[in-house]
Parts: sequence; structure tokens; C-alpha cells
Amino acid sequence: MRVLGIETSCDETGVAVYDTDRGLLAHALYSQIALHAEYGGVVPELASRDHVRKLLPLVRQTLAEAGLAASDLDGVAYTAGPGLVGALMVGAAAGRALAWALEVPAVGVHHMEGHLLAPLLEDPSLRPPFVALLVSGGHTQLVEVDGIGAYRLLGETLDDAAGEAFDKTAKLMGLPYPGGPQLAALAETGRPGAFTFSRPMTDRPGLDFSFSGLKTQVLLAWQQSDRSEQTRADIARGFEDAVVETLAIKCRRALEQTGIHTLVVAGGVGANLRLRAMLQAMAEKRGGRVRFPRPAFCTDNGAMIAFAGALRLMAGQHEDAGVHVTPRWDM
Ligand code: KG4
Ligand code: ZN
Repeated sequence: MRVLGIETSCDETGVAVYDTDRGLLAHALYSQIALHAEYGGVVPELASRDHVRKLLPLVRQTLAEAGLAASDLDGVAYTAGPGLVGALMVGAAAGRALAWALEVPAVGVHHMEGHLLAPLLEDPSLRPPFVALLVSGGHTQLVEVDGIGAYRLLGETLDDAAGEAFDKTAKLMGLPYPGGPQLAALAETGRPGAFTFSRPMTDRPGLDFSFSGLKTQVLLAWQQSDRSEQTRADIARGFEDAVVETLAIKCRRALEQTGIHTLVVAGGVGANLRLRAMLQAMAEKRGGRVRFPRPAFCTDNGAMIAFAGALRLMAGQHEDAGVHVTPRWDM
């Protein structure tokens, strides 16, 4: 089965074709970062309009790269939520229209399920059960995955998501949007230990997170500092170390609690190199393993939607005509 995947939940237009026999055939991504940069964040209306402009050219490009005609498709999957409602509507309307014209089934995919299953996309040896750390701009969750669709929430953030904490902290230190990757890059030249911030909620049992207090700590440190470039890098390093170590402590605890030996990491913050290194070291020490999608499949992309959609369509799930999106949607 060849499935076209469409992702338009936020500020990236992602398209891919996944073949259930041959794997990923092609994928393409258009990022709206430059469009939103001057506003310091995503402007929903501009995001929707840009998805309208870019989606069909990307579909054409992806099909050409896969060496396919539209009539070779057996199904269409699109992100149905959670996300920005207008942006979601663009992908849903286009996906449903294509499926209707091609007379193939269409399925709306949960964006976080896409992230959750992304590590399986390129590693067929990976099988449930595993513990997944989902760390994006909107979510921070630990999930026990016992099978496709069999998810148990182990813990989640009580306030800011990890990516959101990166973005907000970057902003208050004057870094341009999107802050997360910029702050991580700056931390590379920071000196470890020059600034130490707390590891929130690690001193008590449980698997929930809280990241909103960290940005206040950083703000105070930044306001009281000499505000030099080196200090900014040092603070970035201190912040990154605090988030990464907090995530690692909770991941270790989740593995211990469930008795599971495989950890997978998904979502945009999964692209963070220091997080990858620390989780790798933690897993090795415990005799377990950790798997990450390649960085491009950690952040939003069409491939994860094509893959999750293909699994759902193969299981016989699809929806009747009508365009439905769910901007707020628990997995
Ligand atoms: O999954 P994603 O692309 O979009 C959703 O939120 O669904 O995740 C984006 C988030 C942003 O908050 C971004 O700052 C963060 O992932 N991010 C990073 C890095 N790359 C992306 N955070 C820390 N280090 C990175 N290298
Ligand atoms: Zn995402």
C-alpha cells in the first residue's frame, strides 16, 4: 500500500509517500521559519496561507521524486490535530479532496502519534513494548507503547513543554525565533557549570515534569549578569544541561518503573545533540537501548504522518467524506 502523508499542523508543510512493502519512497519539507521570524513566533493566519501556497507543489515534487503518478496512491493520511486550526484545515481539505478524486481512503492522523511512531519508520527491528519520550514545542510526555494504538501515559509536563521552555528562554535572552535550536547552538560555546539551574521535580517520585520555573531562574541570572556574549553562552549551557538532565532522570525512572529496556525519543527537542548523547550514555549503562529518528524526522515532517497513516489504513481504519480537524486532542 502506498500512502501519501500530509503534515500542516504548524509552520512546516511536510509531504511524503510511504510504501508498506518498500518503506519511505520520498519526502519533502517546506519550512515557514523565515516568514514568521520577524514576528518572533508563528502567526496562524500567515501559516495557513503559506500552506495553501506550498502544499500542492510539494505533493507534485514528492510524487515525482518517488517516480509515481497520483493514481499510484492507495491512500492519503493527513494530520487532523492537535495544532493550529486553520493550518490543519489546509492539509485536511487537500488530503480529503485528493483521496476523493483518486477514489482511495483517507485517514486523519494524530500529530503526536506520528511523532511517537517516527522511530519505527527507518528501524523495522524496533518493536513494542518501548517507552517513548515525546518532547516537542507543545508536548512533554513519557508514554508506554505496548502496540500500535496501545499507549499509556506515564507522565507529562504540568506547565511548559520542553521545547516551549527552550523557545521562551531563548527569547528572553534576546535570541531570534526559533529559539530552541539557536539556544542549543549557543550552549556549545558555554562553559559547563558556570551557571547551575535546578532539575525540577527530580527530587520527588513520579514522572511528571515542570519547566516553567526554569525560565524565571534564567531571567534572574541574565538580568544580574554582565550580559556579555560568553555569559549568554554560559547561561544557555546551564539551562540546556538542566533540561537535558531532568529529561534523562525521568526516562531512567520510567524504564525502571515499567521494566522495559528500550527507549525511543521523538519530537523536535529529540534533535538536541546533548540530549541524544546523555540518553545514549544512560541506556548503555543500564544495558538497554535508545533509538532516535534522524533529526529531520524528529521535527515536524510528512514522513511520520504517511507512516502512521499507513499503519491505520492497513488496519482498516479510515474516515468518510467530510473535513474534520481537532485542534485540541488527547492521544
Ligand atoms: O516537534 P516539533 O518540530 O514541533 C512541534 O512542536 O510539534 O518541535 C519543535 C520544538 C521547538 O520548541 C524547538 O525549539 C525545539 O523543538 N527544538 C529544539 C532543537 N531543535 C528543535 N530544542 C532544543 N534543541 C534543539 N536542537
Ligand atoms: Zn510536532
